[in-house]
Amino acid sequence: MLENLKANNRGWAERKVESDPDFFLRLERQQAPEYLWIGCSDSRVPANEIVGLDPGELFVHRNVGNLAPPQDANYLSVLQFAVEVLKVKHILVVGHYGCGGVRSAVDGVRRGLVDHWLHPIREVWHEHHGSLTAIADETARLDRLCELNVERQVRNVVSDIFVQDAWARGQPLWVHGWVYSLANGLITDLGVTVGGIAEAMLD
Ligand code: CO
Repeated sequence: MLENLKANNRGWAERKVESDPDFFLRLERQQAPEYLWIGCSDSRVPANEIVGLDPGELFVHRNVGNLAPPQDANYLSVLQFAVEVLKVKHILVVGHYGCGGVRSAVDGVRRGLVDHWLHPIREVWHEHHGSLTAIADETARLDRLCELNVERQVRNVVSDIFVQDAWARGQPLWVHGWVYSLANGLITDLGVTVGGIAEAMLD
């Protein structure tokens, strides 16, 4: 079963070695990525590929709706390891327009466990209810909610103890909010980058 995937894998590994004979030897010894990607699980948003990075260059955490919930042990473990051990320089919170997680958070349909997971997005919805309902077009309204969700998750990351402690130690670290477009493959920087404890305290 899945012979096509195994054949793809063998071809990929061969091509890597052809273009760079030491590629796997180097990666086996050490991973030293400069970036942590916190993105959505959506299959159409392949982290490394979108930003043209090779294995070893991007530490990745993905979940439904690109959330950074301050009580989630999975996300927190990734964040701590990335900041304290790998010492990444940039944390990229990357949402995407047309996100099914964002849509499902506010469409009123009961789905079970995932409704609880998506609760932080409903909070963002309620927080910005006035400005969001003023947007007549539903797609545009949900796309705006995708952006606001990213901004909210950036705030979560920025206020986290691991990140605050890194800045207190003088460790260089920037947190960015991006949104990816499925329609044209392009990333929009939301301009909410935080690069130091002084800036984080302004919020
Ligand atoms: Co999504």
